Amino acid sequence: MSEATDHLGAAPTIHVDEGMLRDVVEGLCRPQKELSPKYLYDTRGSELFEEITRTDEYYPTRVEQALLERVIPGWVAELRPRGFVELGAGSARKSRVVLDAMESEGGGNTYMPVDVSGDFLQEVATALRDEYPELTVEPAVADMTCEFDLPVHPPNRTWYALLGSTIGNFEEAQAASLLRRIAVQMKPGDRFLLGADRTPGEYKSRERLELAYNDRAGVTAQFTHNVLRVLNRELDADFDVDGFEHNAFYDPVEERIEIHLVARSDQVATIPGGGTIHVAEGESIRTELSHKYDRTRICRMFDEAGLVIDRWAEDDEGFYALVLGRKKDDTDVETD
Ligand code: AVJ
Repeated sequence: MSEATDHLGAAPTIHVDEGMLRDVVEGLCRPQKELSPKYLYDTRGSELFEEITRTDEYYPTRVEQALLERVIPGWVAELRPRGFVELGAGSARKSRVVLDAMESEGGGNTYMPVDVSGDFLQEVATALRDEYPELTVEPAVADMTCEFDLPVHPPNRTWYALLGSTIGNFEEAQAASLLRRIAVQMKPGDRFLLGADRTPGEYKSRERLELAYNDRAGVTAQFTHNVLRVLNRELDADFDVDGFEHNAFYDPVEERIEIHLVARSDQVATIPGGGTIHVAEGESIRTELSHKYDRTRICRMFDEAGLVIDRWAEDDEGFYALVLGRKKDDTDVETD
């Protein structure tokens, strides 16, 4: 018997987020059951993701960091940005590379971390104000997955950044509209900085890519399973966490990693106020998509958003790309 059932009849202490309840139930009623990746990141989930980035198999974080360190000082010296708006800022570890480079080009810059989690954002902002006394830090709370207006007024020559392969979680249409929303905010001289994991090909084999989502220690599997714990806790559901198996694979047609929780046997779970969910043996709940990009795909996505590629950098192994975009009609700055 699950914990949730044991609690029935006890004091109704669980405060259920109605929006989450509707969203979860809606996702679990689709032909391919799915959950938004945002539910993966409770405190435990965020810790597990940090742990994933330290596994040998998960290269994107490490490769992106090295790439930033290699190219950002040069790009910043040439283009001299004064503002840095980071979407999904998180711990701002990657941002420091950009902030350091901006600082050495002169003080008086503005950093605007944008994230869904307000508390965490304030913590990070406080730390950064300490570290960079000449930097103006203006955090803003916004959910990138919804329509959002950036509640900020960035200075001239601002860079908008979406790093950490975050773009991968979005379906193509969503990614395009996110980029469009960023692009309409951009003024001449502004740039869009994107970190994207590349499609397997000449250098990176499909096996190598799939390994990044199937680490031997099973950290990624734990991360995936954790979403069921989140549903059990937040919605008082009673999913049998061990009744599912982590399955991550590359789909070469959609050019993306898909991560699923596959039922090991017929599963029945109750979500109070949301009904009963049946998952047949072998059927799955999709927890994540992680799209992979080649230059053509990025060009097309940029084009739809009204952007063009201004600068492109990749690691020697061709695993990962850092792309700087500018508005199509932007002739404000000389480019190569
Ligand atoms: C945080 C979305 C970039 O897609 O690679 C890593 C999430 N999930 N391993 C990714 C993730 C499992 C990650 N992103």
